Amino acid sequence: MTARLGILTGGGDAPGLNAVIRAVAKTAQALGPYQVIGIRDGFDGLLESGQTLELTPEAVRGILPRGGTILGAANRGNPFARRVVRDGQEVILDVSDEVVERIHSLKLEALIVVGGDGTLRISQELYQKGCPIVGVPKTIDNDIGGTDVSFGFDTAVSMATEAIDRLHTTAESHHRVMVLELMGRDAGFIALHAGVSGGADVILIPEIPYDEQAVFEKILTRAEQGRHFSIVAAAEGAFPKGGGQVIARPGDGIVVARLGGIGQLVGQRIAEACDMETRVTVLGHLQRGGGPTARDRWLATRFGAAAVGLARAGGVGRMVALRGDRVVDVSLDDALAEPKRVDIEGDAVQTARALGICLGD
Ligand code: F6P
Repeated sequence: MTARLGILTGGGDAPGLNAVIRAVAKTAQALGPYQVIGIRDGFDGLLESGQTLELTPEAVRGILPRGGTILGAANRGNPFARRVVRDGQEVILDVSDEVVERIHSLKLEALIVVGGDGTLRISQELYQKGCPIVGVPKTIDNDIGGTDVSFGFDTAVSMATEAIDRLHTTAESHHRVMVLELMGRDAGFIALHAGVSGGADVILIPEIPYDEQAVFEKILTRAEQGRHFSIVAAAEGAFPKGGGQVIARPGDGIVVARLGGIGQLVGQRIAEACDMETRVTVLGHLQRGGGPTARDRWLATRFGAAAVGLARAGGVGRMVALRGDRVVDVSLDDALAEPKRVDIEGDAVQTARALGICLGD
């Protein structure tokens, strides 16, 4: 029997997922040959029958530039805590044994799991239960440890930078303050990188709790110098000193809290304190939708090919990663030991400061 590899995409989507799927299917053909089994809708696809499809090189033709994932994703599909209705009552069940059994029944040499921190954590637990997992880091937030960068991040930063460019022209015409709320959860990478690349005047990130007065001063000083407009890039996870993050929907132990609303809060406070017309834009899922940049295609393709090589070498319980310019692999334990955050002493933050950008402190 031809050896088999499985692949699933879990958690929220990110540009580049299809590039990984394509690279896995094509590399598996060349290196194995392996039969590649795609599992639909993340771990959910392992709980229902008929949720698999064979990923031949023909099946992945033309998907490289496409956003989303042809396999579907599910960011509520944690088999260790699954919400199900039993006897008309909603209950939380650990159905991981069913998933483990299903993975074994598929007779996979490895299951390649492409996911962010939540999905990789589930993968680590499944690995501990004997499943042959190989991880691939995916997230626009860039918050996974063990790798310099995850694919999806570059596309999100490009979108956010373009948004700042567009806000600049209208801000200047109307002498307004434009606040742009960006994704990233508890990490400020998207806001910091796009803010610097787009020339924002203020960048607020969760790693540096901000002082409102510093933000107001920056905007008022600019106005005094004749620049009657300002751009504020605010990460959704940013929060004021002594305050907390703005939550759009609270978590409930199963689903994590959804952040959102900091842009509105900051915008309102600036309008009041600086007496300037202020508008707020929430870029939202435009950062995640659409096709990947060339850089993300390149990284996703390298990760996909490396994941097949890792599976072939028996490197289960490990994750492919980028270190410098090299694709390497690290244990899931090491990758998940600590989430990645913006280094506030690092060169990106220092560059922003050197340019006179206000970071809220
Ligand atoms: O983790 C990726 C991400 O896009 C975060 O930046 C954001 O906070 C979250 O997912 C949004 O999740 P959802 O798609 O459930 O709204």
